[in-house]
Amino acid sequence: MDRGSLVAVLLASILHSAVVAAEDRHVFLNWEVSYSVRSPLGVSKRVIAINGRLPGPLLNLTTNDVAHVNVVNTLDEPFLLTWNGLQMRRNSWNDGVAGTNCAIQPGANWTYVFQAKDEIGSFFYRPSLGLHAAAGGHGPIRVNNRPVIDVPFPHPDGEFDVLIGDWYNMDAKEMKERLDRGRGLPPPDGILVNGLGPYEAEVTFKAGRTYRLRVSNVGARTSLNFRLQGHKLLLVEVEGTYTLQKHYASLDVHPGQSVSVLVAADQAPKAYYMVVSSLFVLPEIFGVATVLYAGSGEQPPSGDAPLDERSSHNNYNRSMEQAMSIRMNLTSGAARPNPQGSFHYGDINVTRTLLLRNDESDIGGRRRCTVNGVAFANAGTPLKLADYFRIAGVFKVVSGRPETRNPSLGTTVIDASYRDYVQIVFENRLPSMQTWHLDGHSFFVVGMAWGKWSPDARSTYNLVDAMYRSTVQVYPTSWTAVLVYLDNEGMWNLRSQDVEKRYLGQELYLRVRQGDSEVPDPRDELPMPSNALLCVF
Ligand SMILES: *[C@@H]1O[C@H](CO)[C@@H](O)[C@H](O)[C@H]1NC(C)=O
Ligand SMILES: *[C@@H]1O[C@H](CO)[C@@H](O)[C@H](O)[C@H]1NC(C)=O
Ligand SMILES: *[C@@H]1O[C@H](CO)[C@@H](O)[C@H](O)[C@H]1NC(C)=O
Ligand SMILES: *[C@@H]1O[C@H](CO)[C@@H](O)[C@H](O)[C@H]1NC(C)=O
Ligand SMILES: *[C@@H]1O[C@H](CO)[C@@H](O)[C@H](O)[C@H]1NC(C)=O
Repeated sequence: MDRGSLVAVLLASILHSAVVAAEDRHVFLNWEVSYSVRSPLGVSKRVIAINGRLPGPLLNLTTNDVAHVNVVNTLDEPFLLTWNGLQMRRNSWNDGVAGTNCAIQPGANWTYVFQAKDEIGSFFYRPSLGLHAAAGGHGPIRVNNRPVIDVPFPHPDGEFDVLIGDWYNMDAKEMKERLDRGRGLPPPDGILVNGLGPYEAEVTFKAGRTYRLRVSNVGARTSLNFRLQGHKLLLVEVEGTYTLQKHYASLDVHPGQSVSVLVAADQAPKAYYMVVSSLFVLPEIFGVATVLYAGSGEQPPSGDAPLDERSSHNNYNRSMEQAMSIRMNLTSGAARPNPQGSFHYGDINVTRTLLLRNDESDIGGRRRCTVNGVAFANAGTPLKLADYFRIAGVFKVVSGRPETRNPSLGTTVIDASYRDYVQIVFENRLPSMQTWHLDGHSFFVVGMAWGKWSPDARSTYNLVDAMYRSTVQVYPTSWTAVLVYLDNEGMWNLRSQDVEKRYLGQELYLRVRQGDSEVPDPRDELPMPSNALLCVF
């Protein structure tokens, strides 16, 4: 290739990444958010429905599609949706969390516009304000491969979105008031599968076919174990990354996580149970759905659901081993033609280590969840807007290391440079499970172990084929380390996926930018959307 054409190719690729290409498909959706009443566990509860449905409609995109989702808020309170696991490239403006967006006021609407740029996989959306996520408002997201891009497994004969999650009969407003009074939430009342109570949800297989189940834990706070009586689960994808394909009898799915499994309908044609059980909490709770084989007479399964395997599932070590057994397939391509393993993440020098230690403290007479001593408090002005309009004093930039200080409330932001290669260590000294999620990025889950983290731990890391995902669990009195390439400019929420812990302060923001100069180059970060909402006080 001569120099001229090389420049032309480079230019073309820069331009391609800079603008939404003319051929990209635009998908226009209108979603009405309303209250509705459901009683999945026999107790009526006011839930949040989307277009009258819970779970809400499937957001079905193909790589590089541009979604225009007009969210109409008919609730009597401000509302926002966030796109859990989507990368929102260059576009934290549309991330839909309190630090990036003013809320959609009651009776108002707002159109999110974002591109599923260079991604593929299984995700979900959910409400982001207060305890709305405990009232529903969630739904599945699929980002399909473009036909020219291969998928590392045969095309399944059918796909099902399976949203599992713990459920509270208590009204979400009452849950919030309870936390505001300094009390904790009680244990959840049960587990739903696609918004339905025990034995209500069903899926139908045809014998001899293979199905893809896209399973997401959309619940408020409980880690879950998922299994399908008599069938093996072939894990193929986790939050947008293809895994080394491996059979599991059951899979742990922690709050906010998504996995795809292939299931071969290769058993005697009768009915089976899909069982979801709570991990690490007492009393243990279950969700049960039915898998029918078409033409088998569609009888309910004989006998009780196999709930008895549970004791083995409540072992932290087993769960941690399973987590570390999930590896990335280095040779399969993802949304782009180059293989997933072409980014040699283990060879890159870490430019910075963030050590985030969660804890619980009494602050001003109320129990709060802190990160390095600070319980996050939302500012009146979204941090993204404060940053854009250079409004001083809205947030406080912190170091991202534990500091000796009295626990306090604060609006904390960690500053990071665009293209920093950062190690984040989540250290959990508490006896409860933690789950952390970063918006705008996926990270390599290189290690987790009991006890305290130390820099020597690097010798135990998986620096070859660690899972690349956006939500990771941290076991009690243990740590989890991730590596992340900060290649997405913006103001990104780093949060607990446990709605209680998050509401009580376990979150912060990561500001990724190039220097402190003027307006970012639109190739690196999109300008503020013309329809950006103003806040109402
Ligand atoms: C999702 O979109 C793809 C590509 O347009 C289409 O083939 C598929 O049928 C859609 N799936 C559903 C469930 O709507
Ligand atoms: C609200 O919805 C209308 C269409 O009903 C649309 O024209 C308008 O752009 C939406 N407003 C915002 C801020 O997105
Ligand atoms: C879990 O593993 C740790 C460290 O290897 C060990 O000390 C502990 O006894 C194990 N616990 C169980 C219940 O097996
Ligand atoms: C990895 O991906 C390749 C496609 O590049 C596929 O042929 C292979 O079966 C996958 N390996 C595993 C173990 O999943
Ligand atoms: C990483 O750091 C080592 C030691 O400081 C240095 O020798 C090496 O060149 C660096 N590698 C890269 C890719 O920058």
